[in-house]
Amino acid sequence: MDLVTTHKSARRELVSNLSKKMASVFPRSIMGLLRHIGRLANRYGYSAFVVGGPVRDLILGVRNLDLDIVIEGDAIAFGRRLSEELKVSLIVHRRFGTATIIAKDKLKIDLATARKEIYEAPGALPTVEFSSLKNDLIRRDFTINAMAVSLNKESFGQLVDFFGGESDLFAGRIRVMHNGSFIDDPTRIFRAIRFEQRFGFAIDRHTEKLILNAIEEDMFDHVEPQRIRDEIISILKEKEPIRALRRMAELDEFKFLHPKIRLDQKMNKFYSAIDEACLWYESLTFKKRPIEKWLMYLMANLEPLSYKETVDLCSKFVFKRGERLRILSYKKCARKAIGLLSVKKKIRPSRIYSILSPLSYEVILSLMARSNSGLAGTRIKDFLERHNRVRIGIRGWTLKRLGLKPGPDFKKILGKVLYKKIDGALKTKSDELEYVKGLIRKRCMEIA
Ligand code: CTP
Repeated sequence: MDLVTTHKSARRELVSNLSKKMASVFPRSIMGLLRHIGRLANRYGYSAFVVGGPVRDLILGVRNLDLDIVIEGDAIAFGRRLSEELKVSLIVHRRFGTATIIAKDKLKIDLATARKEIYEAPGALPTVEFSSLKNDLIRRDFTINAMAVSLNKESFGQLVDFFGGESDLFAGRIRVMHNGSFIDDPTRIFRAIRFEQRFGFAIDRHTEKLILNAIEEDMFDHVEPQRIRDEIISILKEKEPIRALRRMAELDEFKFLHPKIRLDQKMNKFYSAIDEACLWYESLTFKKRPIEKWLMYLMANLEPLSYKETVDLCSKFVFKRGERLRILSYKKCARKAIGLLSVKKKIRPSRIYSILSPLSYEVILSLMARSNSGLAGTRIKDFLERHNRVRIGIRGWTLKRLGLKPGPDFKKILGKVLYKKIDGALKTKSDELEYVKGLIRKRCMEIA
């Protein structure tokens, strides 16, 4: 059953019981924290709400601890008091009028002041009760992201839904709040696709028309490339990014990244191979370095680009140094490394080690995914499972004891020992010692 069906069948219970739902979705510590926020808001005479994504996810029964709280009042003063009472740290972002509580387990809760009230007519009093919350919500992207849940004592858990967000959630519909939404912020186009594909929803027809208009008008030309990059990364971090990418292709959105990027059969296969490679890697039982799978997907997307085009793209979208290095090292080495690893004749494991060990895990696993040859795949697996884990027993001080002076030779000698051990020629520490002594003797004879 998908999320919409599950939610439809549970509708009556959900509407009347959001506080119960909260207790089932949030850990007890968070519930305690939310109730505390509600009580403090009462003392201040403020109203406090959880807003946006966490409300959407709460209704869907999905745990989302990325809590955004809107206060109808001074969020910074409120945050200060809250951090004193809870004895937790607070980061104040004065420029934005927001504050972040850092609760236990590094959990972050953002507090913001609801944006200003609308005045119905010049000089009129601000409109009733929820006016400032309403104003805050109306500026948001989609109806499903524009709901709030009250935290005040008397109304704890009450859903505030001015724009039909809940019924859109029941219907599985992504709908903008107003016609200018994508003009205000074109990156919402990526968000629409991300939510549509994440939840198995559908973008509503009018919203899709607005998207197509914005794309035709090249709205992304007015957006900072870094913001587009962040949206692409968010899409690639989704559970099944390929679905959102297919939709992006349908809506002709790749042109904003690079005109050469396309989603063809080859790319589909590459994506599946990346999933397989990562699954295999995750199944290894020893302690492993965490990998950034999204980066591997991106490397796959950039496959049709030349090295120079990739360099330009990395600069344009201001990828972080570490990301750029991995993207470019893959681009630089892929063809040659796969060629070398696919040759039929026997290759010494130390030779494979010398090719793969300077590369990051994302690059190595991408090579594994990209190589169609079973031989290259087996060799990469051997490297990750066995040869990359070989350690030698002797150290620098062992060499010192043997009368060698510390210097660049140390690294060379230890490297030789490691390679011999990888190739299976040395088994024990005394084998290693004998081998080093032999090397020293040979060198003395050469000098003599
Ligand atoms: N928002 C918006 N327009 C944007 C980005 C965000 O209106 N371009 C609003 C939405 O109401 C959204 C909230 O800000 O719910 C928080 O944004 P964010 O944390 O980026 O997204 P989530 O909706 O929480 O989505 P996710 O589950 O992917 O984190």
